[in-house]
Amino acid sequence: MIKKKQKKKIIIANWKMAPQSFEEAKNNFSHVRSKAKDLKKLEIVICPPDLYISAINQLKLKPLSLGAQNVFEENTGTHTGQINIEMLKSSNASTVLVGHSEIRSLGESDEVVNKKIQNVVRSGCRAVLCIGEKERDNEADYLSFVKNQIESGLKGVQQKNLSQIIIAYEPVWAIGKKEEFAITPEDLHQMVIYIRKVLSDLYKRANIFSIPILYGGSTAPENAKDLIEKGDADGLLVGHVSLNQYAFVDLLKRVN
Ligand code: PGA
Repeated sequence: MIKKKQKKKIIIANWKMAPQSFEEAKNNFSHVRSKAKDLKKLEIVICPPDLYISAINQLKLKPLSLGAQNVFEENTGTHTGQINIEMLKSSNASTVLVGHSEIRSLGESDEVVNKKIQNVVRSGCRAVLCIGEKERDNEADYLSFVKNQIESGLKGVQQKNLSQIIIAYEPVWAIGKKEEFAITPEDLHQMVIYIRKVLSDLYKRANIFSIPILYGGSTAPENAKDLIEKGDADGLLVGHVSLNQYAFVDLLKRVN
């Protein structure tokens, strides 16, 4: 039996379409960075809106690192309004969320999600494959939904590239709410086991425990530690709470 190694917990901040000004973005980033130096058990990645990435990259980054909330699936061609992985990479945004439910809901297909994942992996960056059911049914069809999202998202990704993959389980029904609407740690634990099973069926010879599985959806200082400890998550993808620098630092400290 391969044991799970003690690794740094990964906390990714998804700022979504906020804050409204670069000044606020800079303040938030700098505040979190100043507190993060004591949090040795965490790897913290901030995903600002694309517009702020290169300017934040001019600031001191360490011990934080930068990520992006989305990426286009092609690197060349005429694609108005799109940003490709090489651009993100050149601004040090080397961790990229792919298939976030808020982007899927605009029509992003599993096929496009997979193209993006493959493109991020080819570039040498790290892809965060976001998955999660819209609702839970008594027949547990949501399990096959999640399985499908993992299988189609990782199609063509070879075992040797698994170190560039993070899975973020974000049930849509739990996103953007107060912490009491997050998944329970017990239900999360079951889902984490299920995701590992799906991954181990896909990659029979890999050490599945080396693929981080994060949880996202109404995470807050109050529930973060339990979701990680009892839910057995390798980290969290934090949305609205990451926009409040004080609440976010509180969350980070409790996890650390
Ligand atoms: P939330 O968002 O923390 O605001 O629920 C999580 C996400 O959408 O990534």
